[in-house]
Amino acid sequence: MWILGIDTSCDDTGVGLVRDGSVVVNLVASQTLLHQRYGGVVPELASREHTQVIDGLVQQALLEGGIEVSQLDLVAATRGPGLIGALLVGYTYGKGLAFALGKPFVAVHHLEGHIYAALAEHPEVEPPFLALIASGGHTHLFEVPAWGTYRLLGATLDDAAGEAFDKSARLLGLGYPGGPEIERLAQQGDASRVPLGVPLQGQEGFAFSFSGLKTAVARALEKGYAPADIAARFQQVAVEHIAQVVTRAALHSGLRTLLVTGGVAQNAALKAHLQAAGLRILFPPRGLATDNGAMIALAAWRTQAQNPQNQLNLPAAAYLPL
Ligand code: KG4
Ligand code: ZN
Repeated sequence: MWILGIDTSCDDTGVGLVRDGSVVVNLVASQTLLHQRYGGVVPELASREHTQVIDGLVQQALLEGGIEVSQLDLVAATRGPGLIGALLVGYTYGKGLAFALGKPFVAVHHLEGHIYAALAEHPEVEPPFLALIASGGHTHLFEVPAWGTYRLLGATLDDAAGEAFDKSARLLGLGYPGGPEIERLAQQGDASRVPLGVPLQGQEGFAFSFSGLKTAVARALEKGYAPADIAARFQQVAVEHIAQVVTRAALHSGLRTLLVTGGVAQNAALKAHLQAAGLRILFPPRGLATDNGAMIALAAWRTQAQNPQNQLNLPAAAYLPL
């Protein structure tokens, strides 16, 4: 079974091909350079760029997958959440293609896509498990008791984890996206030189908070601490905060398997710290942590197997709780 997956929820055009649950092609046309000079994503520019590249990217995916468009069994696209103009490009393209081919169309929740990305190389894993999505736009911790059931345990009270990396990187004079830049600079720094506390110490719930860290980075710069030391401490504290919340959730729920996904899941310090926590931690393979189309096809493959649907009549939604 061949599934085409499309994600245009933000500033990357993602197109993937999945065959019987395995990723065959995963193409992402990044718009980072387009938005870089504005210091953030400009929604109208994002929609226009998606419109420019989507058809070419789908043609290329089919070529690389070695199939004709008529061989597709299903088309899936991100329904939401995201920038509505951007979402609509991939979503209506996907619907139109499915309709023209006479094949089912499946609407996928963006966060569900992120969750299934972490299972790409672990088809044997079954719920219950915990799932942490830490990206530029989301920091959500879910308990997944059964396929298709998501209980939100906690989310960020302010900035998303990736957003904190991006904003702190900008303060430190680094480029965008900030996560990899901070990770690189942190290697040259000494975290112990900068006094910067772990957020939400003592809380009993599963909330995250990152905006105080960003302010602390600005203060540390004003006080003259070296940028590399600040980067090292910021990363250490952000990682410690995430680890504290998820290990508390594991204790509370009794679950020992944790999926960690979204752009921040690529952070090596986070990986090392979580792996030391004695849980079974599953990360997405390279290229599937950040936004992409293959994860949307993977999610459709799983959900379609349990509950076959054709969702041509479902509208896209900028705001969409899971
Ligand atoms: O999942 P993603 O592509 O975008 C959203 O759906 O938002 O994640 C991008 C985010 C950016 O904020 C980026 O700085 C962060 O993930 N990121 C990282 C790393 N690589 C990407 N954060 C920390 N460490 C990294 N190595
Ligand atoms: Zn995302």
